[in-house]
Amino acid sequence: MARGFELAAQGPVTGGNPQVGCVLLDDTGRIVAEGWHHGAGTAHAEVDALSKVADRPDGARGLTAVVTLEPCNHVGRTGPCSVALLEAGVARVVYSLSDPGAASGGGAARLREGGVEVIGGVLADEAELFLHEWLASVRRGRPWVTVKWASTLDGRAAASDGTSQWITGTAARQRVHEQRAASDAILVGTGTVLADNPSLTARGDGGELLEHQPIPVVVGEREIPADAALRRHPAGLIEAGSRDLASLLSELNRRGLRRVYVEGGPTLASAIIAAGLADAFSIYLAPALLGGDKLALGELGIPTIAQARRLRIDSIEQLGDDLLILATPRASSVPVPSGGRHSLTEGI
Ligand SMILES: NC(=O)c1ccc[n+]([C@@H]2O[C@H](COP(=O)([O-])OP(=O)(O)OC[C@H]3O[C@@H](n4cnc5c(N)ncnc54)[C@H](OP(=O)(O)O)[C@@H]3O)[C@@H](O)[C@H]2O)c1
Repeated sequence: MARGFELAAQGPVTGGNPQVGCVLLDDTGRIVAEGWHHGAGTAHAEVDALSKVADRPDGARGLTAVVTLEPCNHVGRTGPCSVALLEAGVARVVYSLSDPGAASGGGAARLREGGVEVIGGVLADEAELFLHEWLASVRRGRPWVTVKWASTLDGRAAASDGTSQWITGTAARQRVHEQRAASDAILVGTGTVLADNPSLTARGDGGELLEHQPIPVVVGEREIPADAALRRHPAGLIEAGSRDLASLLSELNRRGLRRVYVEGGPTLASAIIAAGLADAFSIYLAPALLGGDKLALGELGIPTIAQARRLRIDSIEQLGDDLLILATPRASSVPVPSGGRHSLTEGI
């Protein structure tokens, strides 16, 4: 199973499907084939591994399939893995976590009905950790939301004339591009588009476009200009045309956009945090002072210190002169989103 996770990690983080790995073992426990999911629309891990035993005299007959997630049981862009394993004649299937998808779950039961020995729950805690963003989005029906901002040490996200680009140095900005490339969608408010006209592409340190480009999503009621740079984004553009964050996030999830990276500005970031929709924070701190009233966050509806949103610091890293702090909300400090269930750890 541990080897299965290593294989799974070779598949893309982004996209609607989870990263899954599969190992086929013979009855001495020797690995005879390995596979992993290479991304939406391609063979699932089990089918990838099965394709590699096609030239064995018995194919996969009698083998044990070790899979990092319960084999799926539905026809999406590919057929059900439960059926592929049954037809290949495997003797035993070992998996970690049950598939939480309403349509895709149930593979283990189908395999048992077909006479295959099935063992679930192996390294389940590791699987929860490995897939926590994907699992959270499937279980809650909304994407995993990371809120990012860059501010000075005194918490300012822009100067008094509204300029904010290049608060941080090149190493920090390069990390932002990597974080974009590991996301399915980037959220910005209309205010940032009108003030900065950002391109929001994910670029390498030579300025080249990275392979995966998350789709930009502009949140707010105002229309953005016809010549906005975002209209030329290689992944296209979603204009929400509204401020309704809960409906927007469930629609993005429905489209298979499971990881959302919020790039501000302060009004949008604050609205997301106030609504209890922020699952993680990426905070870039530059050793500079700006003073003034352009704070990284605005009103959060917190009347008194006892109700401060407490975070847990997960890591602190120096990038050039800047600091990157990764943090997550403490579960006890997350409000229940209106019209929905909470929270960071629920069901993950
Ligand atoms: N340092 C950083 O990390 C960073 C990042 C981004 C931006 N900035 C700076 O931030 C400034 C722009 O700030 P901003 O606060 O105006 O930008 P913003 O948060 O991107 O946009 C604010 C607008 O978003 C819309 N909106 C969408 N959902 C909303 C909701 N749930 N509640 C309220 N409004 C919602 C509203 O416009 P509608 O009227 O259209 O609905 C609102 O006026 C610029 O100076 C920019 O340079 C800094």
